[in-house]
Amino acid sequence: MFCSKNLPFAANGVGEKLKGLTLTRKLFPFIWLQQNKPLPYIGSVTGKCHNLRYLFRADLRKTAPNVRPTQTNRQPMSQFSEQQLREAFPALRPVENKKPFLFFDGPGGTQMAQQAVDAMVGYISQGMANLHGAFPTSIRTDDLLLEGRKAVADLLNCASTEVAFGQNMTSLAFSIARSLGPFLTSSDEVVVTELDHRANVDPWVTLANDKGATVKFIPANPNTYTLELGSLNEIITENTKLVAVGLSSNVTGTVTDVQSIIARAKEVNALVVIDAVHAVPHLTMDFKKLGCDVLLCSAYKFFGPHLGIAVIAASLFEKLPVYKLAPAPQAIPDKLETGTQNHEGIAGLVGAIQFIQSLGEGSTRREQLTSGMLRIANHEDELAYRVESILMNTPEVRLYRAPEGTPKTPTFAFTIENVNAREVTTWFARNYNMCIADGHFYASTLAEKLQVNPLGGWVRIGLAPYNTLEEIQLFEQALQEFISTQVKKPQPSQV
Ligand SMILES: Cc1ncc(COP(=O)(O)O)c(C=O)c1O
Repeated sequence: MFCSKNLPFAANGVGEKLKGLTLTRKLFPFIWLQQNKPLPYIGSVTGKCHNLRYLFRADLRKTAPNVRPTQTNRQPMSQFSEQQLREAFPALRPVENKKPFLFFDGPGGTQMAQQAVDAMVGYISQGMANLHGAFPTSIRTDDLLLEGRKAVADLLNCASTEVAFGQNMTSLAFSIARSLGPFLTSSDEVVVTELDHRANVDPWVTLANDKGATVKFIPANPNTYTLELGSLNEIITENTKLVAVGLSSNVTGTVTDVQSIIARAKEVNALVVIDAVHAVPHLTMDFKKLGCDVLLCSAYKFFGPHLGIAVIAASLFEKLPVYKLAPAPQAIPDKLETGTQNHEGIAGLVGAIQFIQSLGEGSTRREQLTSGMLRIANHEDELAYRVESILMNTPEVRLYRAPEGTPKTPTFAFTIENVNAREVTTWFARNYNMCIADGHFYASTLAEKLQVNPLGGWVRIGLAPYNTLEEIQLFEQALQEFISTQVKKPQPSQV
């Protein structure tokens, strides 16, 4: 049986008393650690921002069609220097006689921070090695892995022994799913969602299919692009052994109230896997408060190299019978890390985390990281407000965005009437050097439900902290030009 008797999990955070907290904290206590603290200025003030409250407070989000943001309804912004921040990304530096790229595909992968590049080059150029040797480069590599785990622990608030590395999130999810096999029987149920990237669906569905267990989906509402949590008690039952849910959609940006899903899962002693791949680049994370069993993310989504990260609660990790080589380490976290790891990638991850840290302040790395993340969110929030406004005020555009009051990341999925998504992104790339992605983004259940596949899926604009207001203005200009030159107007007879 795959239950708490066999796998005691950390139930921290569950049933926490929430009285007296703000609505935001009630819904997302693990994210909003410092939301009421004013953020001091660190550099030039480049605009005005209404902070992360944008995600929550309807009164601060004037997003109805034909309502444009005005400076009077904005609040002062506390920010990093945009210029300095952009200088920290080598891919953004101007190259003579070359048109600069405008990177709008953060959700597909951000650009890499110079600190991450330097750390990778530093590791490689000072002598690489495998682990557990008596010689200096090997000792340095052992230290590097330890430091990588500690840096992730500070970013996500978990123990460093709970942090394992892998090729990418998908591979780690499959590996964890495979090792959960002995705990699942044909009378058990596995719950996934219609909103998620398939990387947080198929590993668990494959596991269920292997064992003859039942798979249930938490439905996505086709009008609000949020999960339907009303019948959670019927979906997550005494038979449920695993619940896999994404914290934030990589298509619509919808941030899901995972806390209530975790609370329900814990009532029936089910394990919870959170896909935080799209959340970690935008939200301050707290694994301990979250109270899930597994959290997965990827360093290339937050300024680092292509590398996957799994956080597994020690109580579960200790008991996980992973597939591994017999002589390889038995102890956590190494036991999940089959073969030789991507050492230079882990060095880059440490550099990426140092970059986030460098944006924040405080006396500990954790404090610096949380305040760095809040500054990133502040900046993205300002830009997201404008992107949303542009898209909502363009009649030919259909925006797939959750309503006011639903928290969201700065990620926008849209279609343009009668135009294939690939045609749109090709035009933007050719004419404006804009890197904008199209497709179903592996959120294929949602894509099917919303019937966007005939048009080649969605066009997706995803923001990162290095994006600027000027870039957004150029995007607006490009969009208007595209609409006026490429979108066929209906003939009078058709009207
Ligand atoms: C929300 C989400 N989950 C999972 C993944 C898969 O991550 P990886 O490429 O590290 O396997 C992605 C990748 O885009 C994603 O956006």
